[in-house]
Amino acid sequence: MNITSSTVFIPGATSGIGLGLALRLQAAGSTVIVGGRRTELLQQIAAEHPGIDTVEIDTTDPVSIAAAQADLARRHPALDALVTMAGIMEPEDLRDPASLDVAERTIAVNLLGPIRLVNAFLPGLLAQPTATVMTVSSGLAYVPLAATPTYNATKAAIHSFSESLRVQLTKSKVQVIELVPPATRTTLMGQQNSDVAMPLEEFLTEVMDLLRTQPDAEQILVERVKWQRNAEAEGRYQDVLNVLSARYRD
Ligand SMILES: NC(=O)c1ccc[n+]([C@@H]2O[C@H](COP(=O)([O-])OP(=O)(O)OC[C@H]3O[C@@H](n4cnc5c(N)ncnc54)[C@H](OP(=O)(O)O)[C@@H]3O)[C@@H](O)[C@H]2O)c1
Repeated sequence: MNITSSTVFIPGATSGIGLGLALRLQAAGSTVIVGGRRTELLQQIAAEHPGIDTVEIDTTDPVSIAAAQADLARRHPALDALVTMAGIMEPEDLRDPASLDVAERTIAVNLLGPIRLVNAFLPGLLAQPTATVMTVSSGLAYVPLAATPTYNATKAAIHSFSESLRVQLTKSKVQVIELVPPATRTTLMGQQNSDVAMPLEEFLTEVMDLLRTQPDAEQILVERVKWQRNAEAEGRYQDVLNVLSARYRD
């Protein structure tokens, strides 16, 4: 991905990692379109950051995705990068029958959303000289946090989906990058002040350095996420699982 000259759409960039990445990519020289549901935040972002464009989108709604795709094809015909950032993370007690609601909403946003976005935007990306799909998984794709079972499962699925997408696009000019964040200080699961989560700006600086220095990378792995990403390969899987499951064992 060329961070200095791409035209990037980030559905799920009204806050947190998505907004941070949008601002970093714009500062690096790319054209950025921020997407999300919260219209007041979209308006605020457009007002505070001249040059950033916005589009309202609910990634659980196929009609909304189709409308955003048609709108962007008209307004940004050079669009050559899609970052499937939108996600939710909520605790889920599988012993409680009411938890099914969390599971279904999580799958709709975190798994079906990116699949529908790729489906809608890939024809346009394939028509560009070069293009990028960046998916967003998590360290929890590799070792689960027991408190958020469906979240972990959707992120493991995003990893798998990204692998297949990359293979299917081998003979195309579309690059597939999986961004694998560790716990990062955003409002997701109320982690904005968590000592065990990575400061957002530190995370973004490392991500941008990796995108700049490893433009062909298949995964963007900051140092902090390797504890989870490489746990199984390095024989540490059970240890990491135990740490992430502590509240259920004590
Ligand atoms: N923070 C972490 O520790 C961490 C770790 C690993 C992976 N991640 C992943 O990173 C991504 C961004 O998370 P974050 O930490 O930056 O959390 P965040 O600040 O809560 O951002 C989530 C974004 O997703 C958008 N979104 C949620 N549902 C949506 C929908 N139905 N349609 C469109 N947009 C929707 C939100 O926008 P609206 O509410 O305006 O729609 C918001 O912009 C997620 O995929 C998350 O799973 C985060």
